[in-house]
Amino acid sequence: MRILFYAPTGKPDPWLAGLRAQLPAAEIEAWQPGAPPADAAVLWSPPQQLFDEQPQLKAVFNLGAGMDALLKLQLPKDALLVRLEDAGMAVQMAEYVCHYLVRHVREFDQLENRWVFRKPLDRAEFPVGVMGLGQLGSRVAQAVLQFDFPVVGWSRTPRDLPGVKTFAGEAGLPEFLSQTRVLVCLLPLTPDTRDILNRDTLGRLKPGGYLINVARGAHLVEEDLLALLDSGHMAGAALDVFRTEPLPAGHPFWNHPKVTVTPHISGRTLREESIRQIAGKIRALERGEPVAGVVERERGY
Ligand code: NAP
Ligand code: GLV
Repeated sequence: MRILFYAPTGKPDPWLAGLRAQLPAAEIEAWQPGAPPADAAVLWSPPQQLFDEQPQLKAVFNLGAGMDALLKLQLPKDALLVRLEDAGMAVQMAEYVCHYLVRHVREFDQLENRWVFRKPLDRAEFPVGVMGLGQLGSRVAQAVLQFDFPVVGWSRTPRDLPGVKTFAGEAGLPEFLSQTRVLVCLLPLTPDTRDILNRDTLGRLKPGGYLINVARGAHLVEEDLLALLDSGHMAGAALDVFRTEPLPAGHPFWNHPKVTVTPHISGRTLREESIRQIAGKIRALERGEPVAGVVERERGY
């Protein structure tokens, strides 16, 4: 088997060494324009040229959970598209969300260098709503439950998660939102979910709403959030992803007193875990076995 590797940033050598160690019988190299035809590709954010030159690829392994960037390209039509499933990202997401949730509701960010007593917290006043109950959202919901916050969840198809009141589909969205004060977005970016965090949906949150967006920037209509922060309906937001990344200098989020910005780091791709997962799937495919994490192109995730 011949495998191509591509990532736009970072050094390819540790990835190549790791993949070669896991798949000693395979011929594995970094993609260069004009590379001979391969069977599979392991990649993140490749140029269209890679696919134009490699229409015979049988499998494409994305080095991330989100497939939105890849699905914008013209992909080899018969290739199996496989995304990362957790691979060490879910625990990072759980840490990130719990950090900003607790920091907000306990008012830790308002306490710096001031000796001010705060009234005790009533967790029942801060129900957390998780949009997207997949690999990452379900782990986040479990982690938040450990801190005894009420948790509601929303997915495309009905899901059953212990301790979580779940809603599904468009019909379930208004009720899910009306029961939520701290909203966490962990949806994939698809035609159905683009701009889903807008004046109408955020306006349905309980007063004093707080948004934690760790999915994709294009889920959020940024000016709608700003308007709701200004009106006081929303109390704040922790944002890890943006419509334009890096977030441009001078963007109102940078210095907004109610907004915390992080540079798309809530769930980083971890090299060893990712290599192990992808190599395991390549071995399974070679044995003719099915693998999990295959993306449905029509559905967009
Ligand atoms: P996943 O396992 O595919 O889960 C996606 C969840 O979203 C599922 O529960 C799915 O519903 C739900 N969903 C999809 N479309 C929906 C719709 N139209 N309405 C309601 N629910 C919908 O994905 P994941 O691995 O958890 O990753 C989620 C996203 O996180 C990725 O796509 C990526 O964009 C983002 N991400 C961000 C970072 C970062 O560093 N910021 C890192 C990793 C991932 P069903 O359960 O019914 O299928
Ligand atoms: C990162 O944003 C990912 O989709 O894995």
